[in-house]
Amino acid sequence: MADIITIPVCLDNRSYDILIGKGLIEQAGIQISTRFNVRSVAVITDENVAKLHLAALRHALETSNMRVVPIIIPAGEKSKSFEMLETVVRQILAAKLERGDLVIAFGGGVVGDLAGFAASIARRGMPFVQIPTSLLAQVDSSVGGKTGINTFEGKNLVGAFYQPQLVLVDTKALSTLPLREFRAGYAEMAKYGLIENSDFFEFLEKNWREVFARTDKLDSAIATSCRAKAAVVARDEHESGDRALLNLGHTFGHALEAFVGYDSARLVHGEGVSIGMVMAHKFSNYMNHLGHAEVLRVEAHLHDVGLPTKISHIKGSKPDVETLLGFMAQDKKVINGKMTFILTTGIGRSFIAKDVPTSAVESFLKTEI
Ligand SMILES: NC(=O)c1ccc[n+]([C@@H]2O[C@H](COP(=O)([O-])OP(=O)(O)OC[C@H]3O[C@@H](n4cnc5c(N)ncnc54)[C@H](O)[C@@H]3O)[C@@H](O)[C@H]2O)c1
Ligand SMILES: [Zn+2]
Repeated sequence: MADIITIPVCLDNRSYDILIGKGLIEQAGIQISTRFNVRSVAVITDENVAKLHLAALRHALETSNMRVVPIIIPAGEKSKSFEMLETVVRQILAAKLERGDLVIAFGGGVVGDLAGFAASIARRGMPFVQIPTSLLAQVDSSVGGKTGINTFEGKNLVGAFYQPQLVLVDTKALSTLPLREFRAGYAEMAKYGLIENSDFFEFLEKNWREVFARTDKLDSAIATSCRAKAAVVARDEHESGDRALLNLGHTFGHALEAFVGYDSARLVHGEGVSIGMVMAHKFSNYMNHLGHAEVLRVEAHLHDVGLPTKISHIKGSKPDVETLLGFMAQDKKVINGKMTFILTTGIGRSFIAKDVPTSAVESFLKTEI
C-alpha cells in the first residue's frame, strides 16, 4: 500500500479526515471498522461503478464483518431526483438499517449528492462516508457536506448541508474513469487555481499531460485540490461568505446544464463549469476587472486539455439569452435587478461581486450567443 495523505476538514464536532491514496477501496473495511461501530452498511452506487468496483468494496467490508446492502441506481445526472431519493431511502428502511448504521456513497458526484441527502433524512440522519470514484467527486463534491437533488426549476435547489464522517479517495479507481469524465473533473481542479492559487494553475499548465497520464502528479494535484476545498469549507461551512468563490463559473455552467435538460450526452457538469469559467473570465473582462490576455490564457489551457470552452461547443440547439437568464435568476437570487457573481481580477484572484446588474449580464450574453 502506497503512502496515504491525510487532510483534516476542521468543523468543530463535525470534523473529519479525507484520506488520499492508492488501494483505499481494498482498505475500506479496516479504515471504517477502526472508526465506526457498525454492523450494516448501505452502499449506494451507480450501475457503472457497481460493475467495475463494487465487488472489491463489498469484499473489503464483509471481511471486516459488516453486512453490505448494495443500492444501485442508474448512472447520470437524472438520478438526482425526488423519485430516486424516495427509492434509495425506502431501500435503506426496507433493509432494516438502524440509525447508527452507515450509509456509504460509492461513485461520482451524482451518487454522493443523492446518497448524502438520503443519509441526512433516513431515520432523521445516519452516519455517512464518501468513497468518491470520479475525479470530480474526489476533488470537489465528496468534501464539504453539500448534498441534494435537482428539480425542473434548476440544479441542487433541494438538499441539505450534511457532512460525511470520513472521505476515502482511492486514486487507483480513476484508472477506469472514461477520458471525458476525467476532463470534467479536471475542470473543477483547475478551478482551485483560478480562484486563489495561481501557482497551482501554473503547475497544471506545465504538468497536465502527466496528470492525465495518472502519474503521482495526479495524486498531488488531488491533494492540493482537497486542501483548498477543506480550507474554504472550514472558513465558511454554510456559504454565508467565502465559500461562494467555489461557484466560479457555476452560474453560467448551471444555466447551460439546465438548458440541455441535464442530458449528459450533450453536457456533463464539469464541461458546463469549463465553459462557465471561461465565460466568468470574459465577463470579468467585460466589466473591466480583468485583462484580455488572462482570458485567453484560461481559455487556452482548458482548450488544450480537450474541454469545451464556448457555448457553441455544445452539440444541438443553441440557447437564447432570455432562457439562460431565466435559469441564472433561479440559481442566483435577483434583488432589485442585481445578481451575485464570482468575478476575477487575475488568475488566482477571484472575488464575490454582489451587485452585478442583470442588464450587464444580459448584454454580455448577447455577445456570447
Ligand atoms: N456537493 C458538491 O459540493 C458538489 C460539487 C461539485 C459537483 N457536484 C455534483 O456532482 C455531480 C457531477 O459529478 P460527476 O461528474 O462525478 O458525475 P457522475 O456521478 O455522473 O459520474 C460521472 C460518470 O462517471 C462514472 N464513473 C464514476 N466513477 C467511475 C470510475 N471509477 N470508473 C468508471 N466510471 C466511473 C459514473 O458512472 C458516471 O457515468 C453533479 O450533479 C454536480 O452538481 C456536487
Ligand atoms: Zn461544480
